[in-house]
Amino acid sequence: MSNRLLLFLFISSFHLISSSEDTSFIFNGFTKANLSLGGSSTLLPNGLLKLVNDSQHQKGHAFIKKPIVFSSSKPLSFSTHFVCALVPKPGFQSGHGITFVISPSEDLTLAQPARFLGIFNASTNGDDSFQLFAVELDTVKNLDFGETSNNHVGIDVNSPISVESAPASYFSRKEQRNVRLNLSSGDPIQVWIDYKGTLLNVSVAPLEAEKPSRPLLSRSINLSEVFRSENLFVGFSAATGTAISYHYLLGWSFSTRSESLQLLDISKLPRVPRLSVEHKKVKQYGLFIAPVVVLGIIVIAVLAGVYYKRKKKYAEVKEPWEKEYGTHRFSYKSLYIATKGFHKDGFLGRGGFGVVYRGDLPSNKPIAVKRVSHHGEEGMKQFVAEVVSMRSLKHRNLVPLLGYCRRKGELLLVSEYMPNGSLDQHLFDEKQSLDLSWSTRLVILKGIASALFYLHTGAEQVVLHRDIKASNVMLDAELNGRLGDFGMARFHDHGGNAATTAAVGTVGYMAPELITMGASTVTDVYAFGVFLLEVACGRKPVEFGMDAEKRYLIKWVCECWKKDSLLDAKDSRFGGEFVSEEVELVMKLGLLCTNIVPESRPTMEQVVLYLNENLALPEFSPYTIGIGAFSPVVVDAASLTVSCTARNWSAPSVSSSSANNSKDYEQMLEAKNSVKIVAESEDIESRLSKPYSGSICSILPVTEKNAANKAPICTAYSFPVNKKPGLSTMASIKQTFMLMGSPESFLVGFCS
Ligand SMILES: *[C@@H]1O[C@H](CO)[C@@H](O)[C@H](O)[C@H]1NC(C)=O
Ligand SMILES: *[C@@H]1O[C@H](CO)[C@@H](O)[C@H](O)[C@H]1NC(C)=O
Ligand SMILES: *[C@@H]1O[C@H](CO)[C@@H](O)[C@H](O)[C@H]1NC(C)=O
Ligand SMILES: *[C@@H]1O[C@H](CO)[C@@H](O)[C@H](O)[C@H]1NC(C)=O
Ligand SMILES: *[C@@H]1O[C@H](CO)[C@@H](O)[C@H](O)[C@H]1NC(C)=O
Ligand SMILES: *[C@@H]1O[C@H](CO)[C@@H](O)[C@H](O)[C@H]1NC(C)=O
Repeated sequence: MSNRLLLFLFISSFHLISSSEDTSFIFNGFTKANLSLGGSSTLLPNGLLKLVNDSQHQKGHAFIKKPIVFSSSKPLSFSTHFVCALVPKPGFQSGHGITFVISPSEDLTLAQPARFLGIFNASTNGDDSFQLFAVELDTVKNLDFGETSNNHVGIDVNSPISVESAPASYFSRKEQRNVRLNLSSGDPIQVWIDYKGTLLNVSVAPLEAEKPSRPLLSRSINLSEVFRSENLFVGFSAATGTAISYHYLLGWSFSTRSESLQLLDISKLPRVPRLSVEHKKVKQYGLFIAPVVVLGIIVIAVLAGVYYKRKKKYAEVKEPWEKEYGTHRFSYKSLYIATKGFHKDGFLGRGGFGVVYRGDLPSNKPIAVKRVSHHGEEGMKQFVAEVVSMRSLKHRNLVPLLGYCRRKGELLLVSEYMPNGSLDQHLFDEKQSLDLSWSTRLVILKGIASALFYLHTGAEQVVLHRDIKASNVMLDAELNGRLGDFGMARFHDHGGNAATTAAVGTVGYMAPELITMGASTVTDVYAFGVFLLEVACGRKPVEFGMDAEKRYLIKWVCECWKKDSLLDAKDSRFGGEFVSEEVELVMKLGLLCTNIVPESRPTMEQVVLYLNENLALPEFSPYTIGIGAFSPVVVDAASLTVSCTARNWSAPSVSSSSANNSKDYEQMLEAKNSVKIVAESEDIESRLSKPYSGSICSILPVTEKNAANKAPICTAYSFPVNKKPGLSTMASIKQTFMLMGSPESFLVGFCS
């Protein structure tokens, strides 16, 4: 009797084992997914899977790496639920579409883009040997495929000509009717595909709706006849043609047993980036009302002229468009009083972009006021909008921005006062040093990582910092790190001049691809990596005064690791009080983040997990490709010769007197390749301490598209040849700068 029971138990447990062969997986965002990507598909740092880039005639695929085994003994069945979004590229018709694919091969290199959706090609003719099944969300009407709608869902078996299709719609339980669904609205769309027996059901619905009770398509197909292979790859494909959409996948759940299909957690899905449409709108809008604004300025100028005599001291610039930001505006008078007339006793420091003063508001609240010079009105408007939107960013490791004020040629930014100043003072300046212990530094690093993670994913929009470095990290009363100055680099980019891909940041912290690709979350990760290293090592990323082997921090740390003595690179001020595992972790993470291959860098989410030791660092060594490869384009700052593989350029000689004569402003000194150099008499001179007899000039981009645009890429010094400062002067002064060149663009960074 008991033997029987045992046998029964044995059999039932065996049953459990065999049913566990079912394949189920769920990805709420694809950060942790094991996918093989083909064509131009990429995984974005926030876990969004972008199936094609925004060029014409692209195709992209993503398949689960491990094939699903459908044994011949068991009839094939599966259920899947995914969320995708098709966002038309501004100015283009939306196209072509996205498909869910099952195929015995993940190699679809012979497939064609556009109407073939990256899975078929012109010679695919429905032949049984082709073995491919897909469900398409198609946003182009191809008459030669018999399609009747540019917004349809179809079932494809071995052929781009659907066996069944219908215009996209869903049965709304609430309204008790079929509701049309616009596939190319850009909003996330849910798709369910269920196959069991020989019945295949397909439903679509917007994100907020539940699964429709009636499927959109229901078709009898025997998939066991379609596939001869038992190992099948499941995944997605998308394609563009002359019509272009961004095709995103947000989440995906799949199971070979419909009962074990897990529900996607809508709240965990990555956000679909809002396109720069809004940007464009602002620009177009800006163009449109430009004359009005100009008129406005003139009127204001006249009024101001009358007013000026009386109120010269507290004069501000206010424009109609600022009305909506009114509550975030401080009056100059109040700031003047708070800082006791910007008295030198309240002088806190000189950042890359301006001078900072301490002040006290009538409520006794201490504030920091940064005065930034500016020229362009256009960049200003966008920046003010950003400043205001930054107010909504709330994180305990961000410096809270309180508001702004504008004056002629000047912007004042008001933020909370941070009693312990900026981190770089304590790291690099022996005099003011607070002697930060290792544990304090680790707390600061964790805080800044979490702030950056928040900027990248937690805010309404992805916010890039663009200029992470020790001097932009402030310390509050409890010595917590607070990230400040976000968006400043962008502001100095003068509203982003898309035609020149020029980017401004700080040399030493700028990811190599910044020049060609522009800023992104991964370039922030790069800068954060440099920041990790500088905090652990207590030195700047580039120090010209040092021996060649130590000069570049990233390289030096990597060299130490190669010699198995990673700790040699650490800050000597720690003495014996540090945890070597932690210091090593931070240094290795710094190297991982500064990988020159952007795709190989971790996301900020991962960085936070690594730093808190919730996740082990991936396997890598100092010999891993892309690690420790810091190769600045900059050379020879002393002679100011910029060289890179593609070109040579040397600074022109200008006699120093020319810069002091305001007549000479905008006088072109020299044009070389794609830049022209213009002498400047602006007050930058007073902003930058000027230790040598060079003159200040602006470097402007000269390309066909923006020849009229006078926004300088950067500010630089130029020298008469006979008065070149020596290398040691350059290294000892607080603000040296370096020029970077590339075939397309020019960069200058201030090293402070
Ligand atoms: C990802 O897939 C590869 C290749 O199939 C495998 O070696 C690796 O272990 C997988 N990783 C995870 C996390 O499943
Ligand atoms: C898109 O991808 C293709 C091939 O991967 C590449 O040639 C093209 O330059 C990419 N386009 C953009 C805008 O990145
Ligand atoms: C179309 O695709 C099939 C299967 O992938 C391949 O055998 C065939 O050569 C392709 N035809 C063309 C014209 O590329
Ligand atoms: C679908 O949405 C897109 C983007 O909002 C819009 O351009 C298009 O006109 C819409 N189509 C229809 C038929 O409403
Ligand atoms: C497909 O839909 C029909 C009609 O709603 C339903 O009876 C059937 O069970 C569904 N099949 C699957 C596999 O979901
Ligand atoms: C589906 O096709 C397979 C293989 O041809 C066959 O064995 C099976 O009986 C078919 N199923 C149905 C329900 O027709």
